[in-house]
Amino acid sequence: MPAKGEIVDADVVIVGGGVIGTAIAWRGASAGLSVTLIDPDQDADKASLVAAGMLGPVSESVFGEHDLLALNLLSVGRFPGFNQELEDATGLTTGLRTEGTLAVAYDSGDLAALRRLTEFRHSIGLKAEALDARQCRALEPFLAPATRGGVLATGDLSVDNRRYLAALKAAAEKAGVQHLTGTVTEVAPGRITARLGQAPGTTRLAARDVVVAAGFATRDLQGVPAAIRQAVRPVKGQLLRLRHPEHLPRVATRTIRATVQGRDLYIVPRADGEVVVGATQEERDDRDVTAGAVHDLLRDAVIALPAISELILAEINVGQRPGSKDNGPIVGRVAEGMVVATGHFRNGILLSAATADAVVAILAGAGQDPAWAPFGPGRLG
Ligand code: GLY
Repeated sequence: MPAKGEIVDADVVIVGGGVIGTAIAWRGASAGLSVTLIDPDQDADKASLVAAGMLGPVSESVFGEHDLLALNLLSVGRFPGFNQELEDATGLTTGLRTEGTLAVAYDSGDLAALRRLTEFRHSIGLKAEALDARQCRALEPFLAPATRGGVLATGDLSVDNRRYLAALKAAAEKAGVQHLTGTVTEVAPGRITARLGQAPGTTRLAARDVVVAAGFATRDLQGVPAAIRQAVRPVKGQLLRLRHPEHLPRVATRTIRATVQGRDLYIVPRADGEVVVGATQEERDDRDVTAGAVHDLLRDAVIALPAISELILAEINVGQRPGSKDNGPIVGRVAEGMVVATGHFRNGILLSAATADAVVAILAGAGQDPAWAPFGPGRLG
């Protein structure tokens, strides 16, 4: 029962307004739950807005992460249907692209690494077509003449992460989600304490369930079990957003992942002419833009796709991915009245659709897809 002074108006209170929290809010409200979402509304803090929006299950998993790969594959399979519902619900477009990913190699060492990845993909039954240099350049004519060869993954998708989050917000609002601007200072099963808007002091809210979807900030949230807080870490990423000048034809039609003398980068083109180049992966807890990172990203992007040098450098972004101890998401019930959905690391956009439906199933006490079994909070001890 709520105590005196508490606001009680929701089945579920969600902490965090990135793609994970907002997708859960939309799906929960659509399933008939009354949902309140609390978020500081500080865009700079959101990994969701820095992301590139690649939905590439294999390219975001490394050798040996079989459980994560299975989950990523489940998620990419669900994404188009989820996205269609989102676009239908809002009338907004998210920029979903279906041309796949072309991974390309620059020198013979890069090509050998790419071949190993292709063998791995084939060994687990995935489609990935090895292409020679001429075939790569037939698909992407602006690739460097020195391109040695590549691999086409046709099942990969991409979405404009900023449009996607905007659509999720609009859908959540339409579905009746109450959005509160504020900072949650403490959570407990069925209760949260927050500083809301301009209100003095803190406010307590009660709900049947609290869902913690606060990304890397989960580690600082009082009341989240220590094992989860300790498992979450920020992993810094720097990336660039470029734009085509009026006169220039599109320099790429699909996501290009390039390995340039052992260094990996991705180039993600949008239909509206934006091109995202990323990203560093740094075990650091700061938001400094470094000259070296910008230099490396631009140098390698121009080596792989020389026409990049003609684009306008529109933004340099820095974000903090919510990494976890084993790089897998942490999704599940931790207590009666508290559910977590965090630690999505490099896969937040990709996993958002599947996470939302998994969490709504947890809230309803329903069964889950077995692909989620390895990613419960119980594994953290
Ligand atoms: N998913 C892309 C990245 O984390 O850089």
